[in-house]
Amino acid sequence: MRRIRSFRGIIKAVASLVLALTLLSSTSLNAETPPPPPIMLGTAWYPEQWPESRWDADLTLMQQAGIHMVRVGEFAWSRMEPSEGHYDLDWLDRAVSAASKHGIYTVVGTPTAAPPAWLTQKYPETLRVDEEGHRLEHGNRQQFNFANHKYRELARKIAEQLALRFGHNPFVLGWQIDNEYSDISFDPDTKAQFQQWLKARYGTLDNLNTRWTTSYWSETIFDWSQVPIQTQYGNPGLLLAWKRFVSDTWRSYQKNQLDVIRANSDPKQFITTNTMGWYDGFDHYVVEKDLDLAAWDDYVGTGHLDPAKNGFAHDLTRGFKGKNFWVMETQPGSVNWAPVNNSLDKGEVRAMAWHAVGHGADVVSYWQWRSALNGQEEYHGTLLGSDGTPVPLYAEAQQIGREFAKASPALAGTSVKSEVAMLHSYDSRWAIDWQRHNKNYDPNAELVAYYGPLRAISQSIDVVESVASLSQYKLVVAPGLNVLSEAAAKNLIEYVQQGGHLVLGQRSAMKDEDNGLLPQRQPGPLADLLGGRVEQYYALVDPVAIEGKFGSGQSKWWAELLGAKDKDTEVLETYGKSNGWLDGKPAAITRKVGKGRITYIGTWLDGSAMTAAAKWMTDVSGVKPALGKVPEGVEVYPRYGDHGAVYILVNLSKAEQTVSLPSAMNDLLEGGSKQSVKLPVYGVAVLSK
Ligand code: GLA
Repeated sequence: MRRIRSFRGIIKAVASLVLALTLLSSTSLNAETPPPPPIMLGTAWYPEQWPESRWDADLTLMQQAGIHMVRVGEFAWSRMEPSEGHYDLDWLDRAVSAASKHGIYTVVGTPTAAPPAWLTQKYPETLRVDEEGHRLEHGNRQQFNFANHKYRELARKIAEQLALRFGHNPFVLGWQIDNEYSDISFDPDTKAQFQQWLKARYGTLDNLNTRWTTSYWSETIFDWSQVPIQTQYGNPGLLLAWKRFVSDTWRSYQKNQLDVIRANSDPKQFITTNTMGWYDGFDHYVVEKDLDLAAWDDYVGTGHLDPAKNGFAHDLTRGFKGKNFWVMETQPGSVNWAPVNNSLDKGEVRAMAWHAVGHGADVVSYWQWRSALNGQEEYHGTLLGSDGTPVPLYAEAQQIGREFAKASPALAGTSVKSEVAMLHSYDSRWAIDWQRHNKNYDPNAELVAYYGPLRAISQSIDVVESVASLSQYKLVVAPGLNVLSEAAAKNLIEYVQQGGHLVLGQRSAMKDEDNGLLPQRQPGPLADLLGGRVEQYYALVDPVAIEGKFGSGQSKWWAELLGAKDKDTEVLETYGKSNGWLDGKPAAITRKVGKGRITYIGTWLDGSAMTAAAKWMTDVSGVKPALGKVPEGVEVYPRYGDHGAVYILVNLSKAEQTVSLPSAMNDLLEGGSKQSVKLPVYGVAVLSK
């Protein structure tokens, strides 16, 4: 019996060896290829734009820069399917394999953001119609109609072919579906789909008419086909419904490809798409639901890295999946599409890469490697020049590559954890933007105004949805949470009752889920907990003085006159002399609720008052800086793992800075144990305990 078992064992072992060898030869797995590093540098590579004889030179230069990832294919449909149903993916297979020989892994992009000419000529209905009613033409990209059935059928077929070919290739880490979803169609079929969508959501016309208060201006809808598309000025309920339809349509557009990739690929391969940070063309919480990984394209455009504006976008993206994310594209120096395409300073690209990793990015990938010799983006920043040799920035990329390699072992398995959360809602951003009431009231700037000082104090912030689980946070701040769903209200009430500190910023809790006014004054269902409410709001032409716990400062653009009704409700800040209505009245109030607290700030505080407010909020909630106090302009980003914390420090101030550390730490980039670190302008340190 024993002998038989061991004989069977030998047969099994030989069979596995044969299988392994077959796999090795079929995928050209190189035994020396290391596994993908935990923190990677990458680049967008377009092998279809170059003769194959050039590939090896490019890949060698990538390898010498410490690049371990290329994203390919996302605009190569005409090369992948030169005529309908005739697929040619051999060249891409050779590109993936050539990259692998240089220790470079691949992300395959589905090419559906740029349909080939034969496709749109044969099926003109796949071309989108813009808001003015013009059907687009071939020759740029994003000319497709995201809601068109024929387009989806053809997109699914090419995605399927790619998945069949690369779904089990060990050098393919994952998939990017399409590219930067944005342009939508206003053709009659899409409009009919919107009307069907409304029917499914609202059930009856009575319900829709009531929720949108269509008795106003004789807007009553008698038949679903009468609902128009409006995007900027229209019934607020209709505006919000259209955005929700667009979000659902992008989700189903994505799912059409995602399902076929998933069915034909190894579950180890992730599926993502590249979003655009602050871009709000659709609700990203909806579209990201089906993805494995969040990734975004991080461009500064004109100017320089704004750590708060950019940091918020990183944290927002991290919040989509509640885990580390990728920077799928970022600028190697400059872009070509901004009003002024200035280059980032020497050292700034490196600072930006570490800023991204600090916020939880595991990959930073440059767009692009080398510019095509013709095409719309000839002037964009690259790592190689048109002659195929490195540009000056290449050396900085090499430095980043070396540093990622040094810090990778310590950063492996680490992620961001925060004591403070900020709530973010697309509904609210749209709702304020459609009815700013003061043209200067930018809902994104409102978020950044809170985020900057709060992040400087806490050194780490999560940006999450208003229905996210909040129990792990000591402080939750919700500026401009204008639209408050019943689920969100319940979530926030529970958070406070369970001992959390909720801070509502101006314009919060005013609207219901259909963008209609709540039948209570702000903060609607939270007013009882607050023991106060907004008596009236005022758009401001001139700033108004304020004073109180946050010191003396100015209130700009917006002032809400608050009423503190409950005897336990404390006034934190009052308005100075202004329009008479506001004079001496509360601008910020707070109330303790058991172990918890709820605070309402009714005005847009200026920089110094906001800093003082952030200090008050964090102090009263027991939030401490993750590393301790550092000089102004030095950013600290902690990432935590099983072996403790790794702290990334970046000096974004205009002068050299010395940071004293709370205890001796290992300097992972320079080596040695340090009690303090000296950081030149754009200097970076990566430290572990
Ligand atoms: C976007 C696109 C890229 C490229 C860059 C240029 O992010 O995804 O294809 O056009 O912009 O900045």
